[in-house]
Amino acid sequence: MEVKTSLLDNMIGVGDMVLLEPLSEDSFIENLRKRFDHNEIYTYIGSVVISMNPYRTLPIFTPDKVEEYRNRNFYELSPHIYALADEAYRSLRDQDKDQCILITGESGAGKTEASKLVMSYVAAVCGKGQEVNKVKEQLLQSNPVLEAFGNAKTVRNDNSSRFGKYMDIEFDFKGDPLGGVISNYLLEKSRVVKQPRGERNFHVFYQLLSGASEDTLKKLKLERDFSKYNYLSLDSAAVNGLDDAANFRTVRNAMQIVGFMEDEVQSVLELVAAVLKLGNIEFKPESRCNGIDESRVKDKNDLKEMCELLGIEQSVLERAFSYRTVEAKLEKVSTTLNVSQAYYARDALAKNLYSRLFSWLVARINESIKAQGKTRHKVMGVLDIYGFEIFEENSFEQFIINYCNEKLQQIFIELTLREEQEEYIREGIEWTNIEYFNNAIICDLIENNQNGIMAMLDEECLRPGTVTDETFLDKLNTICAEHQHFESRLSKNSKFLTDHSLPHNCFRIQHYAGKVLYRVEGFVDKNNDLLYRDLSQAMYKATHSLIKQLFPEGNPSKVNLKRPLTAGFQFRASVGTLMRNLQTKNPNYIRCIKPNDKKAAHIFTDSLVCHQVRYLGLMENVRVRRAGYAFRQTYEPCLERYKMLCKRTWPHWRGPAREGVEVLMADLQVPTEEFSYGRSKIFIRNPRTLFSLEERRRQCLQNLATLIQKIYRGWKCRTHFLLLKKSQVVVAAWYRRYAQQKKYQKIKSATTVVQSYTRGWKARTLLRELKYQKRCKEAVTTIAAYWHGTQARRELRRLKEEARRKHAVAVIWAYWQGLKVRREYRKFFRANAGKKIYNFTIQRILQKYFLSLRSTLPSMSPIDKNWPPRPYMFLDGVHSELRRIFHLWRCKKYRSQFTDEKKAVYEEKLEASEIFKDKKALYPSSVSQPFRGDYLEISKNPKYQKLNSSVEEKVLLADVVNKINRANGKGTARIFLLTKNGVLLADQKTGQVKASVPLPDLTSVSVSTQSDGFFALRLKEGSASAVKGDFLLSSEHLIEIITKIHRVGASAADREQLNIDISDEFLVQFKQDKVCVKFIQGAPKNGNSASCKRKNNRLLEVSVPTTA
Ligand SMILES: Nc1ncnc2c1ncn2[C@@H]1O[C@H](COP(=O)(O)OP(=O)(O)OP(=O)(O)O)[C@@H](O)[C@H]1O
Ligand SMILES: [Mg+2]
Repeated sequence: MEVKTSLLDNMIGVGDMVLLEPLSEDSFIENLRKRFDHNEIYTYIGSVVISMNPYRTLPIFTPDKVEEYRNRNFYELSPHIYALADEAYRSLRDQDKDQCILITGESGAGKTEASKLVMSYVAAVCGKGQEVNKVKEQLLQSNPVLEAFGNAKTVRNDNSSRFGKYMDIEFDFKGDPLGGVISNYLLEKSRVVKQPRGERNFHVFYQLLSGASEDTLKKLKLERDFSKYNYLSLDSAAVNGLDDAANFRTVRNAMQIVGFMEDEVQSVLELVAAVLKLGNIEFKPESRCNGIDESRVKDKNDLKEMCELLGIEQSVLERAFSYRTVEAKLEKVSTTLNVSQAYYARDALAKNLYSRLFSWLVARINESIKAQGKTRHKVMGVLDIYGFEIFEENSFEQFIINYCNEKLQQIFIELTLREEQEEYIREGIEWTNIEYFNNAIICDLIENNQNGIMAMLDEECLRPGTVTDETFLDKLNTICAEHQHFESRLSKNSKFLTDHSLPHNCFRIQHYAGKVLYRVEGFVDKNNDLLYRDLSQAMYKATHSLIKQLFPEGNPSKVNLKRPLTAGFQFRASVGTLMRNLQTKNPNYIRCIKPNDKKAAHIFTDSLVCHQVRYLGLMENVRVRRAGYAFRQTYEPCLERYKMLCKRTWPHWRGPAREGVEVLMADLQVPTEEFSYGRSKIFIRNPRTLFSLEERRRQCLQNLATLIQKIYRGWKCRTHFLLLKKSQVVVAAWYRRYAQQKKYQKIKSATTVVQSYTRGWKARTLLRELKYQKRCKEAVTTIAAYWHGTQARRELRRLKEEARRKHAVAVIWAYWQGLKVRREYRKFFRANAGKKIYNFTIQRILQKYFLSLRSTLPSMSPIDKNWPPRPYMFLDGVHSELRRIFHLWRCKKYRSQFTDEKKAVYEEKLEASEIFKDKKALYPSSVSQPFRGDYLEISKNPKYQKLNSSVEEKVLLADVVNKINRANGKGTARIFLLTKNGVLLADQKTGQVKASVPLPDLTSVSVSTQSDGFFALRLKEGSASAVKGDFLLSSEHLIEIITKIHRVGASAADREQLNIDISDEFLVQFKQDKVCVKFIQGAPKNGNSASCKRKNNRLLEVSVPTTA
């Protein structure tokens, strides 16, 4: 079901000012403030939307909101710009009525934003499709282009539109956009050459310099630095929140979408660059012979670059800055320009160049966006034009702008009244005359062709003779003096003669929105808007195609001696066209209000808003709107809204809605003069009546709510009660069951307890009985036992006595017999028994000894030193002999297991033991180390392959030894090889043989008694090997090396036995000298190894660490 809502629901303040009660300026502003504080920036005056600038992004412009307002009636939802856009679009599409949306307000009030919102809304709700989307995109993208060239930062607005804009968007019969036409009004071109403090030139200059690539800038002969250009104000070149570089890209992109060709964009940028260059041209005076100063261009570089950019002949332009040609009929007079005239000419050229470029841009955009085809289109016009301006100093521009606003107000009043009137006629309501202020009189004061202010200004500009702003004011003073809306100090109207708020060089107009004081200074000049013909001709001569187009009046073949049209005249004409255009359309108004001067959110300055409310004529709006009937509504929603106020219409009215409303009104006794019945709507005269209806409705809704609540509560309580009752029965049943179960359980357990007690008692009684019987039996048994015991003990005593007696008799008899026998045999025992007993005892002992020895024999390991202790001293010899035999036997057993290799190893070990045991302290530690012989794995290691191949015999030992250097006692690593035939020393790294000693040349080997590994190989004197002297070496495997050398020596039958000399001091023959090697015991150094030190020429001292 669709929920019917109304603007009147949940209103903050009142959503429609027409309903404001009481209506006064204060209540009006208070209402605005209240709504603004609650983020309600839109308020209606009938169908006019007042828009407050929130200065922040509100979440009310989302696609969801667009959907919410789509196809809804204007007063159905809370006020919104979308409601207005929707209304306008729907009546355009459905009722074929051309629309215009007139957006007014002061600078910064949000007009441009509002126009964009309207356009984006329409774009969102209208048809879709590739072609349509392209048109939409082009229409929307025309905005950034025009904003770049026509907007600037001002003190009031960072993105202030410095031109008026009217855009007609054309739609086909389906409501799909086809294209558009843009008209521009009065660009503020003076900004090009001069900007007020705190303001900037047009955005495009800054965008170009910030955003263009280096390449583009180079082509345009520009530099990025703003400060290089006189026309750019520097103090506010950077604007907060405005990214010029990014915007430049947006603009270029937008130009591309709109349809600008690349060369067109380039031409436009060249013109922008030319304006900047123009600003840098400076002049200096040059005295002429006639005493007049003539202007000359100071530095021609900028002029040259500008001429190059635009393809103008430099001399032509230079001359145009120094001379001015005045043509009158057939005569041509050339006058010189002084410096200030030259500057005036330069600035005029810059202004004209820019404003014509802007108009060209608008025309070019129009060319792109214009609707194709010749069918009649429906049109929606959007007018974003400057609002009423009242500054401290108001000049020609404000005069023009305010004139435009007067015209808009007039058309507003006319159209509002006309609309009102049309509605009354449509609805068949009697038209009552409405009192309101008609500003036609003010428009007449300004635009009257005979004696209007503009006509007089034009007349003054065209008149020969001296024309100044003062002569213009004089003229006004004489002609307009009588006008009731014109005020001047010098007018004939004597009442202003003493008004000091009205200076002599000013006039004041009482506009519909308030009085505005205009200073006449500059009126004539600005209206003339002259550009010297020499300049326009110079421009026309340019080879740059765009420039040529912009200055058609420079064409010498079309010299027009007539003065060009004045700015005022042109504006009046274009405003006239605009008004005629608007009058054919259904108007929709958006009145923008700026809440504060700080561009800040949440601030609402009463005085500022009040000022705007006044000059926008909003109170006037409300009054006009309320002049007839303040409120109207179609019958169906009216009946729907108020039907609860009458019993006959509530809850359902079966007949037509109008009759229902009539019944309702009659029943409510609303005075008949307070309302009228139209054909489809009811018209309510006073908001008071509406609010009283609303109040009654509220009351009634409350009562209804109470009734609904009452019934609902009753129903709820009854349902609850029934539920409780039903539950109670269930609960009771369950509880009873539960209680019975519990009782049963209790009785059951009690019975069990009683039973168990009874059984227990019975059992105990039985037990007692049985125990008693048992005790009786035991007592009888005990008594019987005691009795039998007594009997038995008596019998035992008796028998013991008897046995003792018998034993005594036997002992006595034995003793007696023994005595008798001993007496008889004493002589035989002494001769034999002792010896026999001795032998027997000895045999017995030996037998025991051997048997015990068998079981306590030690292990079969030859090194096991255990042997059981001897039991008797007399067995000492046997015991040790047996030990020796056992040891020999187990050694034999051990040896018999040996393989040949192991045997050889043990033989070597045996030989080592023979050589070193108890002679050298190193020996014991070597016993447990197996003799490996080849420590270097010389045959396998590829490193020693060469060395191995150079040795013919089998290598018996290969190891790394240290060869001790006599000079310092330090060792050098050498490979030591022992073969059957000799000893070989080779370099450890290279494997190169250093020395080879055949075994026969080896006489002896000297070692110390200590735990070091030093040994000297002493060579036979006179042998070939002895030439270099003996070798003093040290090795970790000393014992093995010496043993092996000794063994090899011993196995050669033809050789002498090798001497092993073991002493702590021995001589070594080094070449010629004999050096004594002395071993001493020292503290451990460098770990635990012995160190050799040269003491003197004849003594090497080896310090062997003492072993613990
Ligand atoms: N509906 C809005 N929501 C958020 N911010 C807004 C809205 N309307 C206006 N503004 C803010 O106010 C600034 C001024 O608005 P806008 O440029 O539309 O003013 P204007 O009336 O067109 O002024 P001018 O006459 O100087 O062109 C905008 O740049 C924007 O920051
Ligand atoms: Mg604007």
